[in-house]
Amino acid sequence: MADADAPQIAYGLQGVVIDDTHICKIDGEVGKLYYYGYSIEDLAEHCSYEEVVYLLLKGELPNAEQLAQLKKELGAARGLPYGVRDVIKSAPKTSIPMDVLRTAASALALTDPAPADNTEQGRYNKAIRLIAQFPEIVAADYRTRRGQEPIAPDPELGHAANFLYMLHGEKPGDQAARTMDCALVLHAEHSFNASTFTARVIAATLSDMYSSITGAVGALKGPLHGGANEGVIKNLIDIGEPANIKSWLDDKFATKGFRLMGFGHRVYKVLDPRARILKKFSERVGAEAGTTKWFEMSDAIEKAMLEREKPLYPNVDFYSASTYYMMELPPEVFTPIFAVSRVAGWAAHVIEQQANNKLIRPKAHYIGELDKPFKPIDER
Ligand code: COA
Repeated sequence: MADADAPQIAYGLQGVVIDDTHICKIDGEVGKLYYYGYSIEDLAEHCSYEEVVYLLLKGELPNAEQLAQLKKELGAARGLPYGVRDVIKSAPKTSIPMDVLRTAASALALTDPAPADNTEQGRYNKAIRLIAQFPEIVAADYRTRRGQEPIAPDPELGHAANFLYMLHGEKPGDQAARTMDCALVLHAEHSFNASTFTARVIAATLSDMYSSITGAVGALKGPLHGGANEGVIKNLIDIGEPANIKSWLDDKFATKGFRLMGFGHRVYKVLDPRARILKKFSERVGAEAGTTKWFEMSDAIEKAMLEREKPLYPNVDFYSASTYYMMELPPEVFTPIFAVSRVAGWAAHVIEQQANNKLIRPKAHYIGELDKPFKPIDER
């Protein structure tokens, strides 16, 4: 029977505006993205990840002195605590890298010198610590599961270059370092997406930065969110050759509910501006690696998807997958790399949420029975 009093439900909170924010603006109708008012195109072209971290945490771009100070703080926060190393070492080799990252993020709280300090400065210190530690956790886990020793950070290297160095054990060339740096800039922030919203919900209970970020890692892991980039490369490998694209897509779309990873978006109704930038990287990195196959296949899939009856555009995860793959990064670190970048955005939102806090607690429309006759256990 229809419930005449049924409220209007915003499934998936679609279209619901729940707060003001200064951090990020997405215009999904025209495909524009801004961090604190700066366009993603300008940030990607001109800024390092560290400058974007400063922007997200402080609300303005740093001058040279402020940037040097931030780099000093990030450098001082490097070096995995023993407890976190033990978490990584004790994880079975079969464990999922995002599970290790989530557990290690939580374990970081246990080695914080002032875990209960939730002042403005305390939140900032925790943010710096998490941003500095995430690349180390991901790299240490990557090497440990291969039977290799983790590599200590190199104080001479910037955030992106140092991350690649700790993964591969070799200092990256300028081009590889710049590509990773730009990928980190592009993934750093994206308004009230699922993982950021998770972080804000946790922060809104006045819980701490580590709890918020640990929850956010768990939300990012899902294939409808950050986990999609791993799915993209699996699909490319499965398709194998450009000639197979059309039949592969037709086959898959014949199954009801099929989702093509790296396509579609809740907010963008046109091309995701980050995908446009990453597409250029995918092409360039492929050419440098001497194999343009993955880029060309990605480009052909994009075109095929736009020709379908219900066209879909690629999102950020689509071209990052082929870019990383051609940088010799294995698919299981693709989503952790997303987290290595996004941790800055999450931290910025925790800080913003707690600066003007309101508990986040929506209501539900109950559709079960009421006043059921209670039976004691031996009568059920
Ligand atoms: N593959 C196939 N169909 C898709 C699709 C995709 N990637 N993305 C959206 N659609 C279709 C849905 O089936 C739905 O069709 P319908 O109206 O006929 O039922 C319609 O487009 C709207 O999709 P919906 O799931 O309601 O939109 P959403 O805003 O809830 O979902 C995503 C957004 C991102 C979860 C969705 O686009 C998706 O699953 N993408 C693949 C995963 C991915 O790349 N995630 C990373 C996002 S950055």
